[in-house]
Amino acid sequence: MVHPALAKPVQTAHAPGVSDPTPEDIERARILFAQDCKFFYAAQRLDQLPDALAPEIAFAGRSNVGKSSLINALTGQKALARASSQPGRTKQLNFFNLAGRLTLVDMPGYGYAQAAKEVKEDWQGLMFDFLRGRQALRRVILLLDSRIELKASDHAVMELLDRAAVTYQLVLTKTDSIKPLALSRKIAEVGAIIPKHPAAYPEMLATSSETGAGIDVLRVSLGALAEPVA
Ligand code: GTP
Ligand code: MG
Repeated sequence: MVHPALAKPVQTAHAPGVSDPTPEDIERARILFAQDCKFFYAAQRLDQLPDALAPEIAFAGRSNVGKSSLINALTGQKALARASSQPGRTKQLNFFNLAGRLTLVDMPGYGYAQAAKEVKEDWQGLMFDFLRGRQALRRVILLLDSRIELKASDHAVMELLDRAAVTYQLVLTKTDSIKPLALSRKIAEVGAIIPKHPAAYPEMLATSSETGAGIDVLRVSLGALAEPVA
């Protein structure tokens, strides 16, 4: 489903806007993400997917962009998802259950140049089919490294998600490793492409899993999709 708020102007964590979370929103989301979060399933093939336990959020992006690290930062756990400086670390769809209220799905990265061709096609085939076909999927968090130019593979994934009408939110990563001026330019550059993509969520966020910048706001954004407390 394309997000109904698409008509709204693009906002970022750094720009004041109507969706600026209140301290109460931040605290509620912090409490949600501080709850028990456990790995419960790894899928290598689409015919092996688990039944959905809760609304699902998938973390997608190029290899090494920081998907696994972002899941760890959101949940405040150092090693829930396996992160590594070696690209291509996550090789399956890994499912994490956050207190039965949200499922976080850590995806294998795309665009990993060193992967063997058949491995690459396998990963991408699985990823694309999952993103297109998963009923419980509420949003894709599409990570972009704030220090790196958008690649053809990033554009291809955005177009695929547009065609599949799966809402995706762009999240810049590793903002601790870029100067403030370069970051503002990046936010403007990426912000400018959002209106061109019908399924892109209007609010982009800039984050660092290293320093925690932007993580609280991302929690609020994702917390809004969680199953209410029973
Ligand atoms: P794949 O599973 O291989 O696709 O990678 P991934 O997207 O899950 O990336 P991962 O979280 O494994 O992180 C890749 C590298 O980037 C690791 O060396 C992390 O320590 C580093 N990294 C992740 N997030 C940040 C960040 O916010 N700041 C900095 N400076 N480094 C980061
Ligand atoms: Mg990973």
